[in-house]
Amino acid sequence: MPDRIAQFQAAKARAEKLVVLTAYDYPAARLLAESGLDMLLVGDSVGMVVLGYPDTTSVTMDEMLHHTRAVARGARDGGDRSVILADLPFGAAETPDLALANSRRLIEAGAHAVKIEGGQSHVPHFHLLREAGIPVMAHIGMQPQRVRIEGGYRIKGRTPEQAESLLTDARAVEAAGAFAVLLELVVPAVAATITRALRVPTIGIGAGPDCDGQVLVLHDVIGLFPWFKPKFATQRAHVADEITRAAKEFTASVKIGNPPPIPG
Ligand code: KIV
Repeated sequence: MPDRIAQFQAAKARAEKLVVLTAYDYPAARLLAESGLDMLLVGDSVGMVVLGYPDTTSVTMDEMLHHTRAVARGARDGGDRSVILADLPFGAAETPDLALANSRRLIEAGAHAVKIEGGQSHVPHFHLLREAGIPVMAHIGMQPQRVRIEGGYRIKGRTPEQAESLLTDARAVEAAGAFAVLLELVVPAVAATITRALRVPTIGIGAGPDCDGQVLVLHDVIGLFPWFKPKFATQRAHVADEITRAAKEFTASVKIGNPPPIPG
């Protein structure tokens, strides 16, 4: 396991919380790397918050590679300490062999690790990636790539059967070699049980306070996607308002005959 990943995992033994934010481009990656985050996630949420798709299911490998390269350049110039994790988008992990081929492309683009949505169903994928030396995180609970099949984003682990199945998923992917497990929209008590049961860290999103770390979509934290505000994300800045204000101010200034200054 590469050093960066080993260090990421070691935080669990120290009871030190891990911090992950998404990044999709050079400036965000550079700023986040400079802020000392543990991990930058080039999530397929790029499809929704950057590319304007209704969900993540249209995101392609080419789009993931393009954004991973930009994030790698930003993280390099921001101090190069964070782990860069890239999502395998919808269809890119259809079979273990395809998952391996696409993971290699993401690693070549600058990712240190990849993330696959899936639990017990994807055990052969995790085994193959581990054998190939590619660190892989499992994403269980609500899996956004299944949103159309499931007809919405629903909290997981509400029934004892669901809770048991999530724990089985988590144990199976850990045994198959996942270096961490992301828990999305999982009932907090179930996420806490899974976190205690695993040796590898859990990273939660909408899964309560007891996971080993937390991940959020950057745009939700900085207020850059004002059209949708998930309940579990505290907005800490109002970047969309600032963009609108600056654009209006520039428009008004040019309209009244004050163009930008001439250089020199
Ligand atoms: O794509 C993404 O941003 C994610 C987060 C929702 C964790 O997978």
